[in-house]
Amino acid sequence: MPKERPLWRGAAFRLCLLSAALFLCLQLGMRRTWCPEEKSRDPAAARGARPVPRCGAAPGRGGGGGRPSEGHLRAERAAGQRRARLLRPAAPGGRRRKTVRWHIELQPWASPTPSLNYEASRFLKYISTSQISCEHTNLNSLKGYSKTAKKPWSICLDERFSLIHRIRSKQCRLYSLGLGNDDNQFELSMANSGCEVHRFDPSIKSAHIQEGRRLWYHRLSIDWRDPNPAIAAHKLHSNTKKLGTVLNEFGHQKIDVLKADVESAEWKILENLILEDVVEQIGQLVFEVHMHWPGFEVSGNDSTVVRYWYSLLRELELKDFRLFHTYKDLSKPQMFLKKEAFNASSCYTLSWVNTRWK
Ligand SMILES: *[C@@H]1O[C@H](CO)[C@@H](O)[C@H](O)[C@H]1NC(C)=O
Ligand SMILES: *[C@@H]1O[C@H](CO)[C@@H](O)[C@H](O)[C@H]1NC(C)=O
Repeated sequence: MPKERPLWRGAAFRLCLLSAALFLCLQLGMRRTWCPEEKSRDPAAARGARPVPRCGAAPGRGGGGGRPSEGHLRAERAAGQRRARLLRPAAPGGRRRKTVRWHIELQPWASPTPSLNYEASRFLKYISTSQISCEHTNLNSLKGYSKTAKKPWSICLDERFSLIHRIRSKQCRLYSLGLGNDDNQFELSMANSGCEVHRFDPSIKSAHIQEGRRLWYHRLSIDWRDPNPAIAAHKLHSNTKKLGTVLNEFGHQKIDVLKADVESAEWKILENLILEDVVEQIGQLVFEVHMHWPGFEVSGNDSTVVRYWYSLLRELELKDFRLFHTYKDLSKPQMFLKKEAFNASSCYTLSWVNTRWK
């Protein structure tokens, strides 16, 4: 324990310095905007007495203790206001202003009176129709491997999107969410192509495992909310986190490809990514979606559920994501909300590219 003290003190000292600096800055920012008024009201200044040096008055500027010129005052005032603006709320937090939303925008019903038939046909048509064409979707064909992955995890490698360039410059990053029983062909081929691959799998034995030069396993499952702190405090380690939390903790700003096969948790995870704007940090999404039941924590009657799924995907479209590949899995039960209906499969793999992403 005694060994830790100097370290702790060092940190405390640095924190003190930081707070002092911040306080000073705030003072500066605020006073400067008020200073010109002080000047006109201050009797000493009116009498032409030597002005009291104001906080932060730059030495040397303002003419060796003489009265600063009007022009200089104006410039200072402007600078002060600029600083005050910079220091206003939201500034310490981060780059973008977030408007917290609690619900996604629900699309109108597909028909004047809600009906599962109309909802299902609108939704199934939507997920079966590409919105943008992508010529190169297979990493293996690019690399000359003959073996193709078992699952159709398609990414868009066309030149007009940044992914191929980021792969070439070995700057790309893949996050893969899923459970251990999946095949990991896609992850391996991405790692072999030069991508940094992070696989999130709650079933592995230790917290982090590095499998290859560019392949990491993390014992975490990505959820749509962080654990309740009251519960988390009682557990030794919590294995459940939101994607935004993981990004912050890993210090990652961007994910080039997010692959998810999360057995019906995808709807709520997608909702969380949309509501928290995390989706804007992602270049391409490759999701297996499941429709044999509503999914975790999705409630309502069947038409309500299908409308919700559809509305989620429309939110993606609103954020300039375009569906470029859709795959109907005929090997899975051909069920839609527990019914054999609509010629639907219970499982589709959908790939989107974020057309706004650089
Ligand atoms: C399902 O629930 C919604 C909203 O609660 C309701 O408006 C609609 O009529 C219901 N649809 C069916 C088919 O029962
Ligand atoms: C049902 O789905 C299969 C497989 O996607 C397709 O080949 C077939 O044309 C569909 N049938 C109808 C009636 O739409």
